[in-house]
Amino acid sequence: MEKLGRILRIGPTDNTSNERTPRENLRIIPPAARDSFLPYSRVQPGIRMGENDLTRLAPQMPRAEGDAIEMSGQILDDIGQPLRHALVEIWNANKYGKYAHDLDGYDAPLDPNFSGLGRTLTDEEGRYKFWTIDPGCYLARPDINRWRPKHIHLSIRGGASRLITQMYFKDAEHNDTDPMRIVMAEDFHLNIGKKYETPDIDVERGFKFDIVIRGKNSTFFE
Ligand SMILES: [Fe+2]
Repeated sequence: MEKLGRILRIGPTDNTSNERTPRENLRIIPPAARDSFLPYSRVQPGIRMGENDLTRLAPQMPRAEGDAIEMSGQILDDIGQPLRHALVEIWNANKYGKYAHDLDGYDAPLDPNFSGLGRTLTDEEGRYKFWTIDPGCYLARPDINRWRPKHIHLSIRGGASRLITQMYFKDAEHNDTDPMRIVMAEDFHLNIGKKYETPDIDVERGFKFDIVIRGKNSTFFE
């Protein structure tokens, strides 16, 4: 029988990939069923103060290298209802484009004062806010000289459902050759943070990134 859909590749010792490959034509999931994939939840983990501030590992620690930036926005569904109490996690490379991760092979310095990880919960209006360091771009694939433009990864979680996306920066170096940006095509603007001035003297600039979790104006999710 001809196989339809993708083959799930989950390792040489597992024989279930073939069994789980769809045998029939894929169908559009009705909206009501699709809701079960959206990150709604009443119960979320407790978040400590400061977990949304990536510029310092702890209040008494030195500030990480680079420009401190604010990132904020509102998470809404397709009819404008806020996504309340959603767990929002972000991660981004440091000023030099380096992640504090064992598998990051990019040849750039680590910053001992920057973990690049933060989290918060959205409020009653679906709003979130972070402070982080303006990330650098990085050479993701040295074998084909593919760079990633600077970006901030976001995960939005409620219950067992999770959406993952990235915020880009307008006119940033390597934007035009980024594979994800090419997939987004004319919708790329929906994933660009909009710059704003912030009165906070410790912060260089702010970027507003509103997220729509479904519908025709949906943010691009991975
Ligand atoms: Fe990245």
